[in-house]
Amino acid sequence: MKSTLRNGKDEMVVTPWEVMGEIDYDRLSREFGTHIITDELLQRIAKKAGYIHPLLKRGLFFSHRDLDVILDEYDHGKPFVLYTGRGPSGPVHLGHLVTWIFTKYLQDAFNAKLYFQMTDDEKFLINPKYTLTEIHNFMYENILDVIALGFNKEKTKIITDVKNIGSLYEVALKVARKVNFSTVKAVFGFKESDNIGIIFFPAIQAAPAFLESALKGRSVPCLIPAAIDQDPYWRITRDVASKLGYPKPAQIHSKFLPGLGKEGKMSSSQPETCIFTTDSPEVSEKKIMNAYTGGQATLEEQKKLGGNPDICPIFFYDYYVLLSDDKEAIQLRRKCRTGEVLCGECKKNLAEKTKRFLVQHQKKREDAKNNLTEYLLERNGF
Ligand code: TRP
Repeated sequence: MKSTLRNGKDEMVVTPWEVMGEIDYDRLSREFGTHIITDELLQRIAKKAGYIHPLLKRGLFFSHRDLDVILDEYDHGKPFVLYTGRGPSGPVHLGHLVTWIFTKYLQDAFNAKLYFQMTDDEKFLINPKYTLTEIHNFMYENILDVIALGFNKEKTKIITDVKNIGSLYEVALKVARKVNFSTVKAVFGFKESDNIGIIFFPAIQAAPAFLESALKGRSVPCLIPAAIDQDPYWRITRDVASKLGYPKPAQIHSKFLPGLGKEGKMSSSQPETCIFTTDSPEVSEKKIMNAYTGGQATLEEQKKLGGNPDICPIFFYDYYVLLSDDKEAIQLRRKCRTGEVLCGECKKNLAEKTKRFLVQHQKKREDAKNNLTEYLLERNGF
């Protein structure tokens, strides 16, 4: 089955390296063969965590594979490891942080170990404009953002691919031997002209899913929180798992976080619509105050006709990320629709929260410089 959706003009394109067009998540889930998260699953997670994270409650994390299996095993005394990652091709923005914040929620809820992969190799291979040194500078900065989120020091290992290749290579080789070129070509849309490094790379991204099992010499389940565009990797990983005697990794998938512009996901390539974790509070405020909204062109129209929260990035961040109180979230949607709340007010509100977050995050980022090495993977895992 082809996992990259590419349907011609005006339609959605979803690959690990490109996301375009209006995304129909139900269709994506159907075509990728994943399952929509049920209320029952959500409650099972909430029970362990003590609360339902707004990202889960409001459906930003919307789909999964084998989450039920992972939870069943956990209930029977079999802990799982978490695995997520980042391709360090630029500075981190708030869209990236959201997935990681959710990963920390899972880590805390299940007291789980986490492997966090930094794919310096992948980004070097697919970005001809960067040297490896440049990628490593991004990576160092990105690692500070990861650590700043407060992952459990004893239970988190950051894998940096180039340095840690010795820990990954055996597993990656075993994976690579089971995946032929026609499969990766179909799944990722590789072309004859693509470099040979990137063709092998899927084996490297698969490896951390099996690393704990390989190191411990017994089967350890793995759950991968990631945006849905990474799914092609996991399908390959799952295909080879049984052939290698490893458990199939489970996934929990998020939707994409919108940028502050008219459409599209938050992306470093459009810096004016993207809040970087290193933006000064003033810059972030300016970006938010200039954001596209679902509002009307004039104040009169807005009061008369109301706004459209469903196309508004400002509302999106309030609703999906920030407002844990259901009543408040529903009320904001209503107030927007009826024109009771105006865009300026919403933007100001979000700008204030963002500024407060950035000040704190940037302080933690600085602190992270002192304990960076404790998070980095050593030869034998934990
Ligand atoms: N390929 C991912 C990226 O470009 C990085 C990555 C590696 C990743 N392993 C992962 C992302 C596991 C999510 C989960 O960003």
